Amino acid sequence: MGILGTSASIFADINLIIQIALLVLTIIGIIKSKPYPLHGKIFTVVTFVTLATTLFIMGPALFLKWGDFAAIPFPPGSAIVIVHHLAGLVALILGLLWSYRYIDARRNRKPYTCGSRRMMWLTAILWLYSLFGGIVIYYLVYV
Ligand code: HEM
Repeated sequence: MGILGTSASIFADINLIIQIALLVLTIIGIIKSKPYPLHGKIFTVVTFVTLATTLFIMGPALFLKWGDFAAIPFPPGSAIVIVHHLAGLVALILGLLWSYRYIDARRNRKPYTCGSRRMMWLTAILWLYSLFGGIVIYYLVYV
């Protein structure tokens, strides 16, 4: 039993709380695209916390809870979960690339031009889609 009073496990509840905090940070990071060093720092933290929760909670849950997800009748749960994970995976790879460039710029005193505005928006849209999708999946499965 979890901590939010739903049928979710404690891991799913902790993950939900972390993802909501990351959503708030993501919105702050998008609003604060300048100064670039602060923007880069916010998204590097968001990216690495997301990487950890993906590796230790959401990734394993994809396999362990597949039966619960697939049981959602409409829209088909398996489709929602697969699209959510694919969007999240692409966003995470892009986030890791921008974070790598941020760390490189910091260490080697290079300009903080981590990526183009268009690619940043592509990352932000995939990132937000995936974050909201995860919250919807929690609601459909556990509430
Ligand atoms: C998941 C990671 C990231 C997301 C979702 C993201 C999102 C965004 C968004 C939405 C914008 C456009 C803001 C606007 O139109 O005013 C932007 C701009 C920008 N971001 Fe990021 N960002 C991420 C990571 C980073 C990192 C790590 C850096 C490194 C410093 C960075 C550097 C920049 C720069 C330089 C711009 C301005 C680009 C330009 O106008 O040419 N971003 N970002």
